[in-house]
Amino acid sequence: MTNDLSGGVDNLLTETRTFPPSAEFAAQANAQPELFDRAAADREGFWLEQARELLTWRTEPTQSLDWSDAPVARWFADGTLNACENAVDRHVAAGNGDRVAIHFEGEPGDRRDITYAELLEQVSRAAGALEANGVTKGDRVAIYLPMIPEAVVAMLACARIGAVHSVVFGGFSADALHSRIIDGDARVVITADGGWRRGKQLPLKRAVDEAIAKGGTAVDRVLVVRRTEQDVEWTEGRDVDWAEALAAAPATHEPVAVEAEHPLYILYTSGTTGKPKGIVHTTGGYLTQSQYTFRYVFDHKPGQDVYWCTADVGWVTGHSYVAYGPLADGATQVLYEGTPDAPHQGRWWEIVQRYGVTLLYTSPTAIRTCMKWGEQIPGEFDLSSLRLLGSVGEPINPEAWMWYRRVIGGERTPIVDTWWQTETGAILISPLPGITSTQPGSATKPLPGIEADVVDDAGNPVENGQGGYLVLSSPWPSMTRGIWGDRQRFVDTYWSRFPGKYFAGDGARKDDDGDIWLLGRVDDVMNVSGHRLSTTEIESSLVSHPSVAEAAVVGATDDTTGQAVVAFVILRQEAAEAADIVAELRAHVAKEIGPIAKPRDILVVADLPKTRSGKIMRRLLRDVAEGREAGDVTTLADSSVMDQISKGMAAG
Ligand code: PRX
Repeated sequence: MTNDLSGGVDNLLTETRTFPPSAEFAAQANAQPELFDRAAADREGFWLEQARELLTWRTEPTQSLDWSDAPVARWFADGTLNACENAVDRHVAAGNGDRVAIHFEGEPGDRRDITYAELLEQVSRAAGALEANGVTKGDRVAIYLPMIPEAVVAMLACARIGAVHSVVFGGFSADALHSRIIDGDARVVITADGGWRRGKQLPLKRAVDEAIAKGGTAVDRVLVVRRTEQDVEWTEGRDVDWAEALAAAPATHEPVAVEAEHPLYILYTSGTTGKPKGIVHTTGGYLTQSQYTFRYVFDHKPGQDVYWCTADVGWVTGHSYVAYGPLADGATQVLYEGTPDAPHQGRWWEIVQRYGVTLLYTSPTAIRTCMKWGEQIPGEFDLSSLRLLGSVGEPINPEAWMWYRRVIGGERTPIVDTWWQTETGAILISPLPGITSTQPGSATKPLPGIEADVVDDAGNPVENGQGGYLVLSSPWPSMTRGIWGDRQRFVDTYWSRFPGKYFAGDGARKDDDGDIWLLGRVDDVMNVSGHRLSTTEIESSLVSHPSVAEAAVVGATDDTTGQAVVAFVILRQEAAEAADIVAELRAHVAKEIGPIAKPRDILVVADLPKTRSGKIMRRLLRDVAEGREAGDVTTLADSSVMDQISKGMAAG
């Protein structure tokens, strides 16, 4: 536990602005107050009701929660269904085949609208193509694609045949891809020649080739989408052209019914050790809660709303709120390939105007970036179609919240600040837009059917007005079923700190009304631009460089990205003279993990602050990285170390 839980508290104590829903919004909202009453009356019965009401089952479930193998939950376990059928087929069967599922906008400006009927044909052909390449139920398929419709098609095609997808963010390096392919034992990779990012081509296929060339994988098929049309190496017998494979497959395909507890996907996320965790989600509970939250938190009205989530499919937000939740609820959504400033800083707002986006879901980092660019930029576009705004991934500071509401939401839209994690699968704490009075910076209360609390060190609930650790007190349908291949790590990480409760790793505070304010991570996990990074993982990467003897990494507060990676390194004697070592180390981390993990600052130091037992005191390093006087140094083995580091920081 390294964070100071009082952080941010001053801010919240002075935050008194509240925004009740307008009568107009409240009257038309999907979620009405009785949703809370139903859930409170019989929580497990409520979830079973949601599962049956929202999803189309092959065999209707009669069981709700089975907690006999705790902490691995089973939900709706006697039901069978297919996730792709729920996301696509049933909308076509209901007569909505002509509805646009995806408005795709490529970064270079190319556009494509895909209706549900067209999506059905694509997922059917892709499922057939996977089968033709030997993929069957339970096999793992790695997906390494840019933000293009084929990413969603690839995920759904896996689900259609009961294969388990493992999406790896396109910004991760070949090394990171390699370790994820090995850990999940994927036989097939779906990638693209490249993707567009700020006018440059990401060399995705090359990274896949490199990853496989490192050896040790079982990959014998690589399906390649042509996106940028750049030249790529081709391995005959292994590489398969995606378009050709789809063209050769039948236009129709019968979805494979799977048990509710059949794994749907693995998604890797950073933990407190150097090894990423393969978070496992299964089918019935995950899909129920993705759709439930999509419908009630975003107040989605099928056939009327145009929804846009700016997250990449490489993160959990892109799984639950691009691929599964919205499509299960029959949404029309925008999918945009590129960055917000390509080719100009108004690109996002141009997209909102073009498609008449009504529901927008993005991250505080993106909002703060737009704030920096200036409100005149969104001011040039017509944003009057927007009727609800969402935020996710990191705590949103009140200033960004107020700006979002005023500049983007025209002072009228509710804001839903949604708290959840890769592990939780779907939103757990959030306002319901027609019910909850919001305050800038608070995710407010657990959703109906969710039981969360803030506890002290001993695991006792804190009083209102106090801070502590966020826990989930009872299981929920979309919770992870564990870490791929490592049950013990799952138990240790989430269930041992407070027995019987899920420990999220976040600090939180309850205000006088019992509303929850998230205060950031309390473990060695950083949150940079809403992306989770492990301090230990970056430290291991730094010490794997031949010039580095020791490294310590901290997340320092950053005005735009929330936190930024700051590294302190001790060089080996012989390397100490090397020019440009800092640039070299940044490039090394980018190669080992990916550009997102590159430290913002690297400080070469002679020593690191350690306790007498040898533990690095990151708290002190964070003080320095954030420009403060280092705190209490009395427990240091050598208290002069901090003076030297502070001087070095000031000089640098
Ligand atoms: O610290 C919390 C923060 O993001 C972490 C989860 O990261 P990840 O698994 O990558 O998922 C991000 C998208 C769901 C949490 O432990 N976090 C997420 N949403 C919020 C948040 N912190 C504060 N407020 C939020 N709304």
